[in-house]
Amino acid sequence: MDTVILVIGANGQLGSVLVKSLQDKFGINNVIASDLRTKEGFNGLFEIIDATQFDRIQEIVKTYKITQIYHLAAILSAKGEENPLQTWDINMKTMFNVFEVSRLNNIEKVFYPSSIAVFGDGADKDLTPNDAYLDPATVYGISKASGENWSQYYFLRYGLDIRSIRYPGVIGYQSLPGGGTTDYAVDIYHKAVLGESFNCFLSEDTTLPMIYMDDVIRATLELMDAPKESIKTRTSYNLTGVSFSPAEITSEIQNIYPDFKVSYKPDFRQKIANKWPKSIDDSAAREEWGWQPKFNLKAMTETMIKELKAYYITDLV
Ligand code: SER
Repeated sequence: MDTVILVIGANGQLGSVLVKSLQDKFGINNVIASDLRTKEGFNGLFEIIDATQFDRIQEIVKTYKITQIYHLAAILSAKGEENPLQTWDINMKTMFNVFEVSRLNNIEKVFYPSSIAVFGDGADKDLTPNDAYLDPATVYGISKASGENWSQYYFLRYGLDIRSIRYPGVIGYQSLPGGGTTDYAVDIYHKAVLGESFNCFLSEDTTLPMIYMDDVIRATLELMDAPKESIKTRTSYNLTGVSFSPAEITSEIQNIYPDFKVSYKPDFRQKIANKWPKSIDDSAAREEWGWQPKFNLKAMTETMIKELKAYYITDLV
């Protein structure tokens, strides 16, 4: 049976990059991108899906004979706090729709992203273990902690092969994040390349787990490729890329732009970040499916700046 993949939330920070990698790997006609709105200039198959609508997901699954679903749509940590009940409703409803459609249509594999937002004060902040106590302090985090358990439930009860990673903050040049607490770490590069100063909404010593886009895409594809028997963690896998604070990323950028200036004005997102780990123990991912990150802060910074420079120069010409 051919692999035919549906990506829900394909216009997001991760989705837009992941879709390209999936197209390269499985063929442009075997990947159906979907989101609430079409995306200008998108190359490939696209369907509008509001994932709160069970029937619409099922219709697309049947039409294209989908075999795998990547469910990337969610309201993130910072944005989610604006309307807690609505965030819960959307994050859970879309998840249940995807899991139920998958169960009823014999979907072969599902990818369900979780997040470092599942951790709270009950977990060690340094090298947080995979099986740490979960007491998330945001609605987003609660929905992901719950979603992890539902993933495991669907696997144990129905044999649905759902795989999951707890994504750190994702940093890439191709797309912008939206509504997260780690978003500053993308924005800061744009400001540096544009020759502007940056006002950071986290304090300079707030260390958080992050990951470069290439690494996170590779991790996702490697997890989905791994033999079923090796996936022993059915809630979600911790994943490390690189941990740093705003002061550390600033000083790395200043190696390239010595005049780059950053000021600090922590807002409500500081409280969210304070509950999250500083670094992650991802030994389960390393042992069970061979995870190994490649990008450190220096390599990531050099690549981000090189790519963003090319982007802004092309844009300005
Ligand atoms: N990047 C996400 C956020 O900040 C964490 O999963 O909400």
